[in-house]
Amino acid sequence: MTVLAVDVLGRFKQKIESREARIGIVGMGYVGLPLALLFSEERFAITGFDIDAHKVETLNKGGSYIARITSEEVNMAQKNGFQATADYTQIGQMDVVIICVPTPLNEHHEPDLSYVTGTVKAMSPYLREGQLVILESTTYPGTTEEVVVPLLEQGNSAGLRIARDAEASGFYVAFSPEREDPGNDTVARRDIPKVVGGCGPVAQDLASAAYGTIFNRIVPVSSPAAAEMTKLLENIYRCVNIALVNELKQLCVRMGIDVWEVIEAAKTKPFGFHAFYPGPGLGGHCIPIDPFYLSWKAKEFDFRTRFIELAGEVNNDMPYFVVENVMEALSQQGKALKGARVLVLGLSYKRDIDDLRESPSLTIIELLQNRGALVEYNDPFFASVGRGRKYVLNMSSTPLEKIGEFDCAVIVTDHSQYDYAKIVEDAKLVVDTRNATKGIKSAKIVRC
Ligand SMILES: NC(=O)c1ccc[n+]([C@@H]2O[C@H](COP(=O)([O-])OP(=O)(O)OC[C@H]3O[C@@H](n4cnc5c(N)ncnc54)[C@H](O)[C@@H]3O)[C@@H](O)[C@H]2O)c1
Repeated sequence: MTVLAVDVLGRFKQKIESREARIGIVGMGYVGLPLALLFSEERFAITGFDIDAHKVETLNKGGSYIARITSEEVNMAQKNGFQATADYTQIGQMDVVIICVPTPLNEHHEPDLSYVTGTVKAMSPYLREGQLVILESTTYPGTTEEVVVPLLEQGNSAGLRIARDAEASGFYVAFSPEREDPGNDTVARRDIPKVVGGCGPVAQDLASAAYGTIFNRIVPVSSPAAAEMTKLLENIYRCVNIALVNELKQLCVRMGIDVWEVIEAAKTKPFGFHAFYPGPGLGGHCIPIDPFYLSWKAKEFDFRTRFIELAGEVNNDMPYFVVENVMEALSQQGKALKGARVLVLGLSYKRDIDDLRESPSLTIIELLQNRGALVEYNDPFFASVGRGRKYVLNMSSTPLEKIGEFDCAVIVTDHSQYDYAKIVEDAKLVVDTRNATKGIKSAKIVRC
């Protein structure tokens, strides 16, 4: 390593160790806010950037808008200097800027990088020498090098360039994927190894030094593209395996076999098997979306990602499978779906979280309504729901006490605070898509 590189790294590490380093996190959502709190716990003064004025105001008042983050945690962070802002001019004061903005798909099912490019364009005029910029948003391999770096360079009036090696001066860039599993309390956030791919060895070292303060293990990879691909491999692995058990579930239902019993038995094999569970369809910001970032990019290389496409097809069909089962269960009781009152239990895409994004519940509600059912929902995490990106619900949560008034209750999200024995006792008919009623014996239950 040259004298310059030793100098840059040495000064940076010193600032990190003394906690004088200023860390800016762009995007105060499900990823950015917990990350900000983690750095705050390590006594860094964090600045959270967000374009959503409501979020900025709530955080600066010491409040939270994410159910699992308490206002006490935000207050504690404020004591360590945490503040939120929409003012990008403050980017210049940061030593590290970590970007955690959304990466959805557009209406043509293609990557929508507009949040990333919007952020990068907005911050580029304020970049300064020696700063480290890290992208955490999930994206296709090549984004950091092909999209982020050029925009940072173009937007910088001082003519700053990326510093790729020890001799160069400029700013540093890295990619490090977020691996959070919302609602999973079994692994502490700092115990999740952090994969880091820098644009060059100095960026790699700087990013590893910064993350090393909050993560117990850093996993360096040779490039940002390798880090971007790592995240996609993890999510595609989940997506494909969930599709496999979803397909087997449909076969098992037809064959009269309990797929959950089969998975529990298979899980006892001490090697070579990892359990995945079927459900009503995929939800969340990751698994239903991220694989298609890769299939889109693969086309540039004249390559078809067949596993991703097939898994997407199977998983997308699951809400239809649920609705068919509701229809069949009602018909067994001599009732038609048209005009039936159906209570959907659980709106969020998975247990015990307050996140609706891509939730299969929303699709199931829409499909049921399209077939003439009178649908209401109950979810302890959502007192009411308005309009989302795709759906206009404008509904309020129906109290569970009213469950007996419905022709059918459909368990779509298995929140742990539900009393399933009571639900089965009070309901006329229960369609269970999650095996939440496991162990409860009743002719009223249809598991699918
Ligand atoms: N939620 C998860 O569990 C999870 C897990 C792993 C990876 N990821 C990835 O992390 C990224 C962020 O996801 P999220 O769930 O935190 O999204 P989110 O929607 O909860 O939060 C994103 C935040 O960014 C803000 N934002 C958008 N454009 C901005 C801009 N130009 N400047 C400043 N702020 C801006 C939004 O207002 C919002 O508050 C995505 O790429 C996602 O795929 C998410």
